[in-house]
Amino acid sequence: MNADTWNEVDEYIVDLLIEQDDALKAALQRSEREGLPSHSVSASQGKLLQLLARLHSARNILEIGTLGGYSTIWLARSLPKDGHLVTLEANPKHAEVAQSNIADAGLADVVDVKVGAALETLPLVLAEKREPFDLVFIDANKEDNAEYFEWALKLCRPGALIIVDNVIRDGAVLDANSTDPRVQGVRRLNERLAVERSVSVTEIQTVGSKGYDGFAFILVEPDKNSGLSSDA
Ligand code: SAH
Ligand code: DHB
Ligand code: MG
Repeated sequence: MNADTWNEVDEYIVDLLIEQDDALKAALQRSEREGLPSHSVSASQGKLLQLLARLHSARNILEIGTLGGYSTIWLARSLPKDGHLVTLEANPKHAEVAQSNIADAGLADVVDVKVGAALETLPLVLAEKREPFDLVFIDANKEDNAEYFEWALKLCRPGALIIVDNVIRDGAVLDANSTDPRVQGVRRLNERLAVERSVSVTEIQTVGSKGYDGFAFILVEPDKNSGLSSDA
């Protein structure tokens, strides 16, 4: 079995089971046309994010790493009428493409794109004193993953779900001596997660059109201060 098979199976799943409307397809097309890197989640992953947000009845979502807004659209469409999504993007070009894609998807009033390095815009989100987030999707530069996790804890409610993309990277996560700062960023996050008593975590390896990678799923325990986690 190889990457071609993973790709073909992903195509099979998407063709049969995953409806991508014109707005989602156009978002990918515009992103490609504008020269953005093809780092969006896959269609089946976008649908997974949407299903999890629905299962969680999320009303307020935070996304770190917007790119062209593809995952943003999947997530924002899970929201009820009074829901909101804040998404943070460092690259002004990416943010501009995302704004267009989000507007074309009819989500301009639901989604707030903040431009700037997330470690600089997260304090602004805090200062806005919004309702705490129910779901956080971390998918920006991997070097700062551990810091993004701290911010997610600060900004979300007890019982919130935090999802982190790209935690496996072809298995590179195993290499403690990796000189790749992205790998070290993921490892630092994992070491932080391992000692954080207020969360319950798993990571799932994935294959598909995005190659071999994985997600972290982190439940912020409903009683943050209990020091108990359900698997303790
Ligand atoms: N979530 C998107 C993909 C994001 S790709 C999707 O699935 O559709 C990662 C994005 O993070 C890129 O657009 C990159 O410009 C952005 N990024 C990189 N460093 C960042 C930082 N310090 N703060 C915010 N965004 C950053
Ligand atoms: C990269 C970033 C991502 O968020 C992703 O899903 C795939 C690749 C990257 O920076 O290479
Ligand atoms: Mg990613």
